[in-house]
Amino acid sequence: MTRCIRVPKREGETARSALVAENMLDLDAKIRSEGDFLIIPIRGESFRDYETVDTETEVQEHHPSDYREVAEVPENLKGLLPSSFDVVGDIAMIKVPDELIDYKQPIGDALIRVNKNIRAVFHDYGVKGDFRIRELEKIAGEGGSETIHKEFGVKLYTDPCKVYFNPRLSSERSRIASLVKDGEIVIDMFAGVAPFGTVICRNANPKIVYSIDLNPAAEEYAKLNAEKNHISNLITMTGDSSKVVYDLPMADRVIMNLPQIADRFLGFAMDRMNNGAVAHMYKIIERAEFPSFCKNLEEEMKAKGFDIRIDSSELKTYSPTMSVYSMDIHKD
Ligand SMILES: C[S@@+](CC[C@H](N)C(=O)[O-])C[C@H]1O[C@@H](n2cnc3c(N)ncnc32)[C@H](O)[C@@H]1O
Repeated sequence: MTRCIRVPKREGETARSALVAENMLDLDAKIRSEGDFLIIPIRGESFRDYETVDTETEVQEHHPSDYREVAEVPENLKGLLPSSFDVVGDIAMIKVPDELIDYKQPIGDALIRVNKNIRAVFHDYGVKGDFRIRELEKIAGEGGSETIHKEFGVKLYTDPCKVYFNPRLSSERSRIASLVKDGEIVIDMFAGVAPFGTVICRNANPKIVYSIDLNPAAEEYAKLNAEKNHISNLITMTGDSSKVVYDLPMADRVIMNLPQIADRFLGFAMDRMNNGAVAHMYKIIERAEFPSFCKNLEEEMKAKGFDIRIDSSELKTYSPTMSVYSMDIHKD
């Protein structure tokens, strides 16, 4: 017998949501219909003023959607399981805390069991060096780290062991593609595998996108991505963008996704931007310091002879005190 409440159908969804919110819905038993009423299994004796009934119920098959429910780690360590992880194509990357390092394989297995689209799981030791490459160790699943990530109608070939790629910026890529006007010249100064360029070329109509990166592996993947997405106006280049930009035509739009230090390159970008052009720059910084950072940047550019106007928004939290900002820097 299962303790249930008898709820008029018109109130069914409200009652069910309230039970979920208060962790009182019995997830192991099925809800059933009885005339104008729903019989909803509950945890506990009663819920609000609803009539209670003790009745037979069918077993509810439970498919966990959170790997933490099935990860085989000691109960006292469960609270340390990370709530978030990155998925690129069919691989997942997770930062396993030190205390759980002996359980990294069961954690990887749990991610695969719960997320059917994940083929392999890697422990993420963090991003390192000028190329911002992740140090990864496979902890579960099959095959290597090369994968195909899909977003906004494009296929992005990448290998997080060889080149930086951030799946969390897909909305930004779509936003910027929506701003690109027909015939624009776009320069991506820190392009990686060219996710910005590929999304822009497939969703807008630029004249040309130059995709620059210091890492030769990035150019290889950027070329592959242009080819696989049938793009002919994406030109890939390997080199230091502070120098390479001087070999390119003046730009209408520049993308600067090197969030730790992109501001050091803003003067080079401004040099190569038409009046009225926009630089899309990303910056990781202490939230308290962001207003003075913008002010200093305006003064620094003014001293170089550039009038700029900054529209910014906080993109996401980076740490308890830091955030990633998206800055649209207009050259007036
Ligand atoms: C944060 S990643 C961004 C990659 C890509 N835009 C994305 O969103 O996935 C920064 C990239 O800048 C490249 N990089 C670092 N310094 C550079 C420089 N001076 N010139 C060109 N690329 C550089 C790194 O190799 C890395 O691929």
